[in-house]
Amino acid sequence: MTQFKRTTVTSALPYANGPVHIGHLAGVYIPADIFVRYLRLKGESVLFVGGSDEHGVPITIKAKKEGLSPQDIVDRYHTIIKASFEAFGISFDVYSRTTSKTHHEVASEIFKTIYDKGGFIEQTSEQYYDQEAKQFLADRYIIGTCPHCKSEGAYGDQCEACGTSLNPLDLIKPKSTISGSTPILKETKHWYLPLDKHEAWLRQWILEEHKEWKPNVYGQCKSWLDMGLQPRAVSRDLDWGIPVPVPGAEGKVLYVWFDAPIGYISNTKELLPDSWEQWWKDPETRLLHFIGKDNIVFHCIVFPAMLKAEGSYILPENVPANEFLNLEGDKISTSRNWAVWLHEYLVDFPDKQDVLRYVLTANAPETKDNDFTWKDFQARNNNELVAVFGNFVNRTLVLTHKYFDGKVPACSELSDYDNQTLKEFADVKQALEKHLNVFRFRDAQKEAMNLARIGNKYLADTEPWKLAKTSMDRVGTILNISLQITANLAIAFEPFLPFTAAKLRTLLNLSDFVWASLGSIDLLPAGQLINTPELLFEKIEDEAIEAQVQKLLATKKANELEMTQLIHPIRENIAFEDFTKLDIRIGTVVDCQKVPKADKLLVFKIDDGLAGRTIVSGIAAYYQAESLVGKQVCFIANLSPRKLKGIDSEGMILSVENTDGTLVLLAPSQAVVPGTEVK
Ligand code: 2FM
Ligand code: ZN
Repeated sequence: MTQFKRTTVTSALPYANGPVHIGHLAGVYIPADIFVRYLRLKGESVLFVGGSDEHGVPITIKAKKEGLSPQDIVDRYHTIIKASFEAFGISFDVYSRTTSKTHHEVASEIFKTIYDKGGFIEQTSEQYYDQEAKQFLADRYIIGTCPHCKSEGAYGDQCEACGTSLNPLDLIKPKSTISGSTPILKETKHWYLPLDKHEAWLRQWILEEHKEWKPNVYGQCKSWLDMGLQPRAVSRDLDWGIPVPVPGAEGKVLYVWFDAPIGYISNTKELLPDSWEQWWKDPETRLLHFIGKDNIVFHCIVFPAMLKAEGSYILPENVPANEFLNLEGDKISTSRNWAVWLHEYLVDFPDKQDVLRYVLTANAPETKDNDFTWKDFQARNNNELVAVFGNFVNRTLVLTHKYFDGKVPACSELSDYDNQTLKEFADVKQALEKHLNVFRFRDAQKEAMNLARIGNKYLADTEPWKLAKTSMDRVGTILNISLQITANLAIAFEPFLPFTAAKLRTLLNLSDFVWASLGSIDLLPAGQLINTPELLFEKIEDEAIEAQVQKLLATKKANELEMTQLIHPIRENIAFEDFTKLDIRIGTVVDCQKVPKADKLLVFKIDDGLAGRTIVSGIAAYYQAESLVGKQVCFIANLSPRKLKGIDSEGMILSVENTDGTLVLLAPSQAVVPGTEVK
């Protein structure tokens, strides 16, 4: 096995077309941050690279919608995203952006090197073109029906309903999202990365040499490879992005998925202009990409193929991708505003970053999609952080102040029970490492929490407050052990709950600590002064949770309204005279029968206050004929008669279509004289 000298950790560059939410944090940034903090505590050489992904079609669409430039949009969201990450303690060494000058240079250079080596193929093909907007329709500029799941509104590059990657030409009934018109096909030239030529080494490298990758990652790679790789276009006809740096490429930019992963390299170069190469080219560097599952193919297949084609870069050693986090049972969605936005959480729950970090790790979608609920958030805070962790630390510190003036007491003779407790937590370091080394952060955090449970139980069982009158030596020993466990908690939780660890360190006057000390019972010398206790966590009340649930319900309602408006938009206004042309009346049903050989139809005899009339209506699926006799209905009296199944129908009975497609008859709220007009 290779012994690595250093580790480069990257975390997916979020698109700067919206703020970041709990799904981002749970799937990518918290796991990456835990791992990096762990390596730093171990004294390893590590670089944590992040940044914003500022190219691509969604950004230009958002800019058009708001009447702003794409640069305005990315400036706004880059600032918000960067601030959110800082607030949550995501400890990047560099967080830059793909609109930077360095990034444009590095991405262009890498493209040129591959181009000069003959690593691309140039191909002219027919692509969709919007004649009204006079532009080619890349990726999300085109929508249509998904050829796989048949849902409407699939994008040119992906169907969000079933998750399939698409080619715009696959879409059924394609439409331009710019003008709404049906596009035509027009020839255009692009550069392609011939992934088919890379397939053999990729198969060997992933399927044979990286069997240790997480099953969800390995499985997805295997299915891509088994389907057979195709050449992929790495340029687009677009006016936002990095210009393709070769002759004959006017109006073309690099595809966002070509330039974005290069952002990891450019951001490293921006931070370390003189030594960046060792983090990207030295075989003794371990490269790790933390991403979400929708990014797997780009990080495990496309980006490695680009790096291999360039020739001087190392390949990732592992790609610990996570599945998705849902919110209260529904898929998180930026466009539907179905998310807990980090910048809003910080306002609603000030100084509670660690609570969210804790809950998102405890519930991390490591092996399957998981659900975030506000009730679970409250329960984990109240029952675990407050009742176990906080309670243990607080009791320890308060008792130390009460009985020993805030000074660490000496430890005298250990009882059997003390020894048993110390044994239980002696192997916490090993247990944590076992999980952390293979990116199992949920289990790792559980182990760290176990330490607090051990401490809490120890205090509850030994009850030092009852011994103060009889044996202060014994009280001292118990509190010494409890304080040593508290100091261990600061180390064990530093990767997971950095703000709490920092508070603990200050409370205990603990100097810099290292991972190697985890498990030690000599972290705090006798006599060391402990600061005045303050609560680490506080109970979250039902009202705060209810407010969040209400906020989501309001979002759901707004989405439903928007959807109704989309599906049943209000028709164009009409003149009052047009309305008066309709003669709508109330009648009483005197007879109602099924129409023979017509499942959907009922034939009504209506008392219309005149001579009576017959109306055929397609309502049979929703009512029993006989149950309608005697009921009043609403009908159009002046509709030209039509023959339906051989019956002359003199009008139309009015009903409403429910959201589930069922029909409900309209009737006056109280009985009226048959033949009365509706006005
Ligand atoms: O899925 C996304 O949000 C992409 N912006 C991730 C890019 S990761 C890397 F390639 F930069
Ligand atoms: Zn689909």
